[in-house]
Amino acid sequence: TKKPVIAIDGFSSTGKSSISKIIAKRLGLIHMDTGALYRGITYFALQNCTDENKKLDIHKLISNLPNINLEFQNIDGELQLFLNGKNINKEIRFPQVSDNVSQVAKEADIRNFLLKTQREITEKGGVIMDGRDIGTVVLPNADYKFFMTASQDERARRRFLELEAAGEKTDVETVKQNLITRDKIDSEREISPLKQADDAILIDNTHINKEETIELILSYIKKF
Ligand code: C5P
Repeated sequence: TKKPVIAIDGFSSTGKSSISKIIAKRLGLIHMDTGALYRGITYFALQNCTDENKKLDIHKLISNLPNINLEFQNIDGELQLFLNGKNINKEIRFPQVSDNVSQVAKEADIRNFLLKTQREITEKGGVIMDGRDIGTVVLPNADYKFFMTASQDERARRRFLELEAAGEKTDVETVKQNLITRDKIDSEREISPLKQADDAILIDNTHINKEETIELILSYIKKF
């Protein structure tokens, strides 16, 4: 039978992407981290579309969309993001990108611009896609939908450890504030807000680890 299309949405730092990546490997699916696309556009904007005070200029960004080519390339079995031919996989995790991405992701023109890239990939077959509006807007007919959450403290702790391991100088409180701010903007925006689809399964991993979360999600997926 056909390989499934799986949508994984949820709050920031619930492990959506790293878990999706592992599930994709186990089930032989393509994984797309849609947050990376919004981060890629934000990275472009911070480089090319700022005003004299170095603040991001959204209008300039929107008029520059035709100059943006974002694509994933398979590097050693992992999809890495390229902006106009340059690998920006590392750069999109910079705190400056995290601090600005939700402002960029609010814009209808930007969301529409990325819609095509996200939907095209499902033409290739089985996919697991993670983001904020995958089950509600991007792939409303997905075979499986999951919505991931965990307590704010636990999410901040995990993200902090990740950033620390990557050599970023930060502290738990700063990380937590970024999560809270992003979740608020993402949940309250008018277009495609972050919310659980009516038919999505809620996965709360506050008290379970990564492997247990993976097993829990896999337990819902029928053999194909
Ligand atoms: O998943 P990640 O935390 O990398 O996403 C970064 C930001 O991109 C989110 O906080 C949100 O503002 C935006 N985003 C979105 N819709 C998606 C995926 C990400 O608005 N499907």
